[in-house]
Amino acid sequence: MRRTIILLIVVSTILFFPFAANSSNEPESPIINKPTSKDELEQSSIRSFPSEEYWPSSSCRKCHSKIYDQHLQSMHAKSFVNPVFQAEYFRELLPESIRSPELLDEVRACIACHSPISYEKWNSFIISEEQVDQRMSGVTCDFCHTIKGYKGKEPGGGNYVSVPGYQKLGPFQFQSNWHHVYSELQTQSEFCGICHSRVNRYGL
Ligand code: HEC
Ligand code: HEC
Ligand code: HEC
Ligand code: HEC
Repeated sequence: MRRTIILLIVVSTILFFPFAANSSNEPESPIINKPTSKDELEQSSIRSFPSEEYWPSSSCRKCHSKIYDQHLQSMHAKSFVNPVFQAEYFRELLPESIRSPELLDEVRACIACHSPISYEKWNSFIISEEQVDQRMSGVTCDFCHTIKGYKGKEPGGGNYVSVPGYQKLGPFQFQSNWHHVYSELQTQSEFCGICHSRVNRYGL
């Protein structure tokens, strides 16, 4: 079965991104388990990952336990391990692409949306499940919350620009920025369109 082809633009333009100034009378954070002191923060898992690497979703659990529990049940967490995907990718498309090399780009693109961190890590084929770090499999918390923009004019085909780091992008303009930065894109449906709208290599 033919699936869509990802639009890959090698030289990307990182869009201007409004790292808006935080206003001082924003509502209180609805997030529970807010660290109460700087020490607690320092001891938390927050700083135990190098800034240039993605953090596993389990590292968010301590402070965002509700969102974490929801995420575990979601198709995003399962988008690579899901048996329908596995069957289509490993049993149908991968063997078929060995016979028909014109399918290669399309097969590679599956991973861009279904396990984006693995896609960025290998930048080539995933030919066995062992290549995929289980903690980074699927569409993870950290992957979404480090999407700064998309390549090209329209979101679609998995054309995200995601840069890991200590500061997570989010929808609210809070007073503090010890751990997150406001991102307008995180409030817009275009964000979802990055992976949820399919375009072929001609952008159609
Ligand atoms: C598919 C991408 C995606 C994934 C996966 C994801 N998020 Fe989000 N998250 C968003 C977007 C977009 C918003 C803003 C819109 C909204 O609130 O629904 C958001 C909102 C939030 C917020 C602020 C709003 C609130 O409800 O408190 C927090 C905190 C958050 N996410 C943390 C997490 C954590 C922790 C995980 C993993 C356990 C996670 N997210 C997984 C995209 C994602
Ligand atoms: C542009 C991002 C993107 C690409 C590329 C992509 N997918 Fe998906 N895929 C999605 C999204 C989003 C969904 C869920 C919504 C939907 O069904 O459209 C999905 C759903 C699926 C499902 C349904 C899972 C289920 O549980 O029913 C399968 C199977 C699947 N994709 C396989 C593939 C394969 C194989 C490829 C490569 C040929 C591929 N996808 C490429 C984004 C993508
Ligand atoms: C030590 C506790 C802690 C950990 C661990 C943690 N967070 Fe947070 N996070 C918070 C708190 C508290 C806030 C509320 C905002 C504030 O006070 O600045 C927050 C806010 C956010 C927001 C901003 C929502 C918005 O727009 O305001 C996002 C997104 C977010 N966290 C994502 C994550 C992700 C993804 C992870 C895991 C990779 C993670 N967090 C790990 C405590 C934590
Ligand atoms: C990095 C790519 C990516 C982004 C960004 C993304 N998704 Fe997804 N989403 C997927 C993939 C891949 C699947 C398919 C998982 C599967 O079924 O295997 C999916 C599945 C889903 C599903 C389940 C669909 C179904 O038919 O079962 C929902 C609901 C969903 N996404 C909502 C959202 C929303 C809302 C946003 C924006 C806040 C979003 N997604 C952003 C990649 C993404």
